[in-house]
Amino acid sequence: MAPFVAILLFLPFLAAGFTAAAAPPPSKCYTSLFSFGDSATATGIQKTDNTPGTTAPHCAFPPYGESFFHKPTGRCSDGRTIVDFLSQYLRLPLLPPYWGETIPAAANATKNPYSHGANLAVVSATALDSNETGGASGCRNCSLSVQINRFKTLINSLHPTSAKRRAYLKKSLILLGEIGGVDYQRASFRNTTTSQSQVESLIPLVTKRIGAVIEDLIEFGAVNFVVPGDFPKGCFPSYLTKFQSSNQSDYDPTTGCLVYHNWFSARHNKLLKKEIERIRKLHRHVSVRYADYFSTGIRMHRNPEKYGIVKATMNKACCGAGGPYNYNPAAVCGRVGAVACGNPKAYIKWDDHHYTEAANRVIAGAVFKRRFQYRTACRN
Ligand SMILES: *[C@@H]1O[C@H](CO)[C@@H](O)[C@H](O)[C@H]1NC(C)=O
Ligand SMILES: *[C@@H]1O[C@H](CO)[C@@H](O)[C@H](O)[C@H]1NC(C)=O
Ligand SMILES: *[C@@H]1O[C@H](CO)[C@@H](O)[C@H](O)[C@H]1NC(C)=O
Ligand SMILES: *[C@@H]1O[C@H](CO)[C@@H](O)[C@H](O)[C@H]1NC(C)=O
Ligand SMILES: *[C@@H]1O[C@H](CO)[C@@H](O)[C@H](O)[C@H]1NC(C)=O
Repeated sequence: MAPFVAILLFLPFLAAGFTAAAAPPPSKCYTSLFSFGDSATATGIQKTDNTPGTTAPHCAFPPYGESFFHKPTGRCSDGRTIVDFLSQYLRLPLLPPYWGETIPAAANATKNPYSHGANLAVVSATALDSNETGGASGCRNCSLSVQINRFKTLINSLHPTSAKRRAYLKKSLILLGEIGGVDYQRASFRNTTTSQSQVESLIPLVTKRIGAVIEDLIEFGAVNFVVPGDFPKGCFPSYLTKFQSSNQSDYDPTTGCLVYHNWFSARHNKLLKKEIERIRKLHRHVSVRYADYFSTGIRMHRNPEKYGIVKATMNKACCGAGGPYNYNPAAVCGRVGAVACGNPKAYIKWDDHHYTEAANRVIAGAVFKRRFQYRTACRN
């Protein structure tokens, strides 16, 4: 009897000793979520970044948002995006967009609209700064480093002391990406003299920048990261249209997608995972998880019926103005001449390079649901 009791008594000390030696595990009960990225993640109509006189992004116009919000919200889909589903799994409000505006109620964190997080992502944002990509950035003042600076300003105004900031960030989840897709797309679409190998040479620059940003945020106090890889871009109607080929071996027969461009996305993902490994080894107290958007995207294309997708149209955009992939660059979704299909749920692609809400739900479900589903134990 006595030894048994002794062991029982001793167990908590063992456990405490273990956690102290290995640094406390990051919280699984997140009270806030912050996301960074481009149009795949953005959840608002840009106000501050448009140069006067330019039109808002096409995602700001109908029929965007028609399936869930019943009006455009700036999301580049017919409804919720992947980050929205992640917010819902965590039982957090859908994230308000934040572009660096002064916070009205900064002195009162409980009334602050960003206390449960914010979405820093901007349509057309690049991983690299515009001076690094030859001015190819799609929006002004919106690169990943700009988003990170805004995040720091926001957190510092919510939690002015270092101790408070670190305590808050311990319960925050950072969704860093997808980012980099725009850097590659601009390099290969905008400038026809750019060779494939020149675009490929951007991959290590982009993935190293993402790694550097993670380390910068760790320094700032963040400890929970999810870092999504690239989508299978060879399946996007924009790529399928632009790089159409009469050579059948340019296409993957199981998906109908472009072999080279999916290889490119996979290459980005491989180098990104290497960066994540490097950071994990250096910072053992943080959690940096890779989110595999690519494989889920491919799975949907290999077995579309399983997800309620119609195979014959799985590589076409639901919303567009004609062409073999229903993508016409002169009349993109949201502009005059483009119309949406009647059944977006049966499509993977909503427009030239964004998924439908239905596809976003499949990806978020496969990648996040089990890992981030809110636990009843989290209720304080
Ligand atoms: C970029 O945005 C920041 C706010 O995040 C603002 O302070 C700065 O003036 C902007 N810069 C330009 C060139 O628009
Ligand atoms: C902050 O807002 C809460 C909720 O509205 C209110 O109860 C509290 O008094 C406010 N605190 C300050 C310092 O204004
Ligand atoms: C690009 O601009 C940023 C911020 O303005 C600066 O820190 C960086 O050194 C510049 N990079 C290059 C390659 O000029
Ligand atoms: C196009 O790419 C070439 C080679 O990378 C570069 O020298 C040129 O400046 C680029 N042109 C534009 C308009 O970006
Ligand atoms: C078709 O593409 C394959 C693989 O890219 C290449 O090896 C082959 O030479 C191409 N065929 C023609 C006729 O261009």
